[in-house]
Amino acid sequence: MEIAVPDFIRAIAPYVPGKPIEELERELGLSRVVKLASNENPLGPSPMAVQAMQKAMVKLHRYPDGSAYYLTEALATHMQVAPECLVLGNGSDDVIAMAVRAFMRTGEKAVMPHPAFLMYDILVKTVGGISVPVPLQGMDLDLDGMVAAVEDETRMVFVTNPNNPTGRFIPLDRMVAFLDAIPSSVLVLLDEAYIEFVNDGDRYSGVSLLTTYPNLVVLRTFSKAYGLAGIRVGYGVMAKEVALWLHRVRQPFNVNLLAQAGALAALEDDGFLQETRKLVSDGIRWLSEQLEAMGLITHPSEANFFLVDVKREGKKVFEAMLAKGIIVRSMHGYGFPRCIRITAGLPEENRMLMDALREVLCEIPED
Ligand SMILES: Cc1ncc(COP(=O)(O)O)c(C=O)c1O
Repeated sequence: MEIAVPDFIRAIAPYVPGKPIEELERELGLSRVVKLASNENPLGPSPMAVQAMQKAMVKLHRYPDGSAYYLTEALATHMQVAPECLVLGNGSDDVIAMAVRAFMRTGEKAVMPHPAFLMYDILVKTVGGISVPVPLQGMDLDLDGMVAAVEDETRMVFVTNPNNPTGRFIPLDRMVAFLDAIPSSVLVLLDEAYIEFVNDGDRYSGVSLLTTYPNLVVLRTFSKAYGLAGIRVGYGVMAKEVALWLHRVRQPFNVNLLAQAGALAALEDDGFLQETRKLVSDGIRWLSEQLEAMGLITHPSEANFFLVDVKREGKKVFEAMLAKGIIVRSMHGYGFPRCIRITAGLPEENRMLMDALREVLCEIPED
């Protein structure tokens, strides 16, 4: 007898993870594969975080602190909010999952940009929710289109700032106009996964808008600028009342013991964060100059990645680069068929990328 599976679960396309780098090296017979595809921190984790996690290892026979007391207190100070405004997760994905579980029922809707981070759509579908994709307008989110897409059944709206994959940053006046136009009964999930990389002098965080918009949830992560993607820590900042509902559906030990120790130390390592920011902005500037000198079009970005129009099918360029041991992201499924997305790496990795790309572009004619 077959196990009954709800139709809305059957409709979810399985997430296809990439191969481990070591396996790819073995398959390609290469001693070094360079991954510039997942917007990770090329510097690695903060040494202070590594040390803190090593120290915490001897306590691994204990359950983690279910309230993540010290990390929550430190984040509250860092963000200048009350600790009750924070909900921590096993990555920011986990916080989105909690919001979806707490506020959405089957048949209700979530408005989101398209293309966007894949997990928005997947998580909405896990509870039978309906994703309402609003295509980008060029490289920018179509905020007016997203407002227009809100209906009676809409429970949440996703906004990514800076946006992935385009790297564009929404100025404050446009963000405020957008939030004003969204009904206060609709939750706005403002995903700031890349906010630490923004160089725009007018940088702001949605956290400064929380007192005006109690339906706002700002999502942050330790996976990108803090270099801790592997231990999975993210968090949401929101009104205390909203946080209480998320805690109801939160798994009690969702942030593990090493993750709490690592994130706490990483938060204190400001030197590492500044080094990361400089490395990334220098890397993007250098790569953009090189790519433009080759006649390619690069799209300005406020994140740690950017899009390049390679003037031929991006998927082919991606595959040819992969064969040379350089992993970038094909934008084929994201509505930018002639683009690839590149994450800034170490100077040496960036040089290897450019060397491989020069060869690949000679092999694949422009179209
Ligand atoms: C826009 C965006 N939000 C969230 C995440 C995931 O963050 P986390 O690792 O905290 O789950 C990513 C990761 O790629 C992302 O691009």
